[in-house]
Amino acid sequence: MDRIKQYFKAKRAKIYEKDYKFLMNFLNDKELEYFKKLPVYEKRHSLDVCYYLIDKYGIKEHDLLKAAIFHDIGKIKAEITPFKKAIAVIFNKFPLLANFLERYFYFLKIYNNHTEYSAQICKEIGLNERIIDIVKHHHDKIPKDEDIIKLQEADERN
Ligand SMILES: [Fe+2]
Repeated sequence: MDRIKQYFKAKRAKIYEKDYKFLMNFLNDKELEYFKKLPVYEKRHSLDVCYYLIDKYGIKEHDLLKAAIFHDIGKIKAEITPFKKAIAVIFNKFPLLANFLERYFYFLKIYNNHTEYSAQICKEIGLNERIIDIVKHHHDKIPKDEDIIKLQEADERN
């Protein structure tokens, strides 16, 4: 998705009653407690990624859907506003610079390494190995399986 569109979408993001109903049928108390820690625009994004997988691929399997819900959960380790996210996305075009700046800006460190942090938090929540594996690899340049390819597509479009 266009980065500028993504920024404005993030600024307007809302969560609705029906989203919580969906989550309550699907997540246990601990999972829900962690999901609530995400900023509202990341909650919206994670839900939309999950809905995309259901609508486009008819996914019912909980591992992939939970991976969609928690793929960016590592970002709760820093306060990453839509503006900071936009900065991080720009710096990511220059990996050496992004690496260097990580030392000075904690949010960049979290953003740049969020797959690793997300996997750690999924483990803390008690999610299974399959979910942790999908989450850990959700930005791999060469995705190793179909589920990761689908998640990347859903992530990109939402
Ligand atoms: Fe991500």
